[in-house]
Amino acid sequence: MQFSFETEGGNFSKAGTASSEIKKILNQLNVDYRIIKRVIVALYEAEVNIVAHAHHGWILVDIDTERIRIILDDEGPGIPDIEKAMEAGYSTASAKVREMGFGAGMGLPNIRKNADEFRIESEINKGTKLEITVYFK
Ligand SMILES: Nc1ncnc2c1ncn2[C@@H]1O[C@H](COP(=O)(O)OP(=O)(O)O)[C@@H](O)[C@H]1O
Ligand SMILES: [Mg+2]
Repeated sequence: MQFSFETEGGNFSKAGTASSEIKKILNQLNVDYRIIKRVIVALYEAEVNIVAHAHHGWILVDIDTERIRIILDDEGPGIPDIEKAMEAGYSTASAKVREMGFGAGMGLPNIRKNADEFRIESEINKGTKLEITVYFK
């Protein structure tokens, strides 16, 4: 099964669309709620990162009997130092984004923690690509 979503930078009211849709689908598929929770935390953080830090993004979700794989591909500034960005508490979020309650610098560490497999690649002034896989068992 495949699903796709588009995300716009700056549109916080729509952040969470993909994660709530995918939550419904995984519930319908009777996936263990602990697994669903991990998928949704990772996907939500990745969605918010596109909204907070990039211009535009595409989210591709592939579900089979064994696992869910999510690819998030954005057009944006890219991440100059991925290792630093992965550190807990590191954030370049603007004051405005922080006022809205985002920008704690825990998104990427939480994505990595909740994924079974996690890949991130980024190119300056082009964009960032994440691949998140969670196994159902
Ligand atoms: N999709 C993205 N495009 C550009 N920069 C990003 C993206 N995702 C994360 N970053 C960078 O990595 C930092 C850390 O991300 P994260 O751990 O989610 O913290 P936060 O979003 O709260 O700042 C961000 O502050 C930003 O500098
Ligand atoms: Mg974040």
